[in-house]
Formats: sequence, C-alpha cells, structure tokens
Amino acid sequence: MSLPRIIDGKAVAAAVLDECREEAAVLVARGITPGLAVVLVGEDPASKVYVGSKVKTCAELGFHSRKIELPKETTQEELLRVVRDLNADPAIHGILVQSPPPKHIDEEEVIRALDPRKDVDGFHPENVAKLVLEDPTGFVPCTPAGCMKLLEVSGIPTAGAEAVVIGRSMIVGKPMALLLVSKVANATVMIAHSRSKDLPALCRRADILVAAVGRPEMVKADWVKEGAVVIDVGINRVEDATRKSGYRLAGDVAYEEVAPRCSAITPVPGGVGPMTIAMLMKNTLQAARQIGGC
Ligand code: GUN
Repeated sequence: MSLPRIIDGKAVAAAVLDECREEAAVLVARGITPGLAVVLVGEDPASKVYVGSKVKTCAELGFHSRKIELPKETTQEELLRVVRDLNADPAIHGILVQSPPPKHIDEEEVIRALDPRKDVDGFHPENVAKLVLEDPTGFVPCTPAGCMKLLEVSGIPTAGAEAVVIGRSMIVGKPMALLLVSKVANATVMIAHSRSKDLPALCRRADILVAAVGRPEMVKADWVKEGAVVIDVGINRVEDATRKSGYRLAGDVAYEEVAPRCSAITPVPGGVGPMTIAMLMKNTLQAARQIGGC
C-alpha cells in the first residue's frame, strides 16, 4: 500500500483564477468588463456562503458582479422578472440562480427563462444539448468541469478507463458522465444511483470513481479498487460539537479508510470545492467573449 496522491484543488483553482485574471484584463482593455449576477432566494446558510465567495472572487479578478438576495417568500413571477431583467442587462454576461431554491419555486421554469448565452451554470436545455453534441460554444456545468480539470492537470489517463459516477443529478452526475465519455476523455462510463443493484460491487470496477450523492462518507474502503482514482464531489455538513461552528465538512467518501487504497484522491475541503468557483469564472469569461463578439 503506497501513499495516495492528494489532489490539491485549491492550488489548481488558484492557477485557473490567475489565468482568468489575465484574460479579464485583456477584455477590460477592449471595453468589456465581464459581469456576473448571482441570485439567491431564501436563507440557506451553505448557499449564502457559496454566493458570498462567488461575488468575492469576481472582485478579485476585476469582474463586475451583482448579488441579488431575495426573501424566501419570493414568488415564481417575481423571480422570473429578475431573470428577464438580467437577460436584458448589457453589463451582465453570466447569470447564476443558486440551487436549490425554496420548494414553491419551479426551478425548471426559471432555468428555461435564462438567456442560454448567459447561462454560465450550463443548466439550460440548449446548453445541455451542446454538452451532448460536444459543441464548445455551450457552457459546461462548473463542478463537473472542475473535476475534469483536476483529472487533466493531475495527468490521470481517462481513455479506456472504467469510470463510475455515483449520482445522476443534472448539476453533477449526468454532465460528469457525458464529459468522461466525450471524445476528449474517452472513458467507459457507468452512472450509478439509489436504485442501482449492489452499488459497492459496481464501484469496485472503477478505475476512476466519482462520488456525487450528497451523503456523508457513504463510499467505504471496500467499495474502492486498489489503485483507483477517487473524486469526491460531496460537501456535507456533519454535526460536530467539538467545532466552534457546530459542524465539520465531510465528503461523500470515507476519506480516512479510502485514501490508502487510492492512487489519487481529492480531499474535502480543498478538492473539488474550489474548482467550482474557478470554472464559473472561466464560464463567465466565455460568456463575455461570446456576447462581446471576441
Ligand atoms: N448549488 C450547488 N452547486 C451549484 C451550482 O454549480 N450552480 C448553482 N446555480 N447552484 C448550485
């Protein structure tokens, strides 16, 4: 058993953000300041933290940003009006509506109301189609894009590898599977989910295992093949009375027992998490370039 390589998402994200800062300066010199609007409905504490760091990162890169915090009672119509106003706002190139919204909101309709050219989350059906078609003018959802970047810069070969993605969400699982099976990555992919039979046995096949289920420490050591690469997308708050905050962050993978079996693994925090924001900034630049015609 050799020591696993711990994939440093913080360092990779910092390098991506440095590139974004340089590209933003080029655009600003041409009279285009990349602009991102982040919309949060309600008071979810984790979402508030994410939205705050997105806006802070915009400022660090020289982007324009707008944070729109709406009360949890906001109606569907009010939210749609906010989205339509942002669609029409020339200072805004990217729009992100933080998920999940309160239960009375029809998220699907909100996503469809977004101008697909500003849908930097890559959730609009037009961008989903472009992902399937491998059309690079579409936006790739930020978290799976970040996972792919981690594999790439870590020199992990994907061609011909057996990849198992646990989770079939539109935010992570499905786009992740599409990216892995694309003509760029060429992996053989299986998507596992809550109804899959004998999940541990499926996972043990994986050369690359991606866990995106949102269940703390679900993936155990005996689910992982010796020498596998494990990408842990989970960011779960677990009660911990010894912490001042009252909680600690745990991934979907039982890190302590799984890490010794892996050739490489992403930690939580400091793995996939920082990549999501970095790829959002990259997508916002792409939107600014495409809308600005350069
Ligand atoms: N909630 C968790 N991840 C994401 C994301 O990538 N985009 C949005 N809009 N909401 C999220």
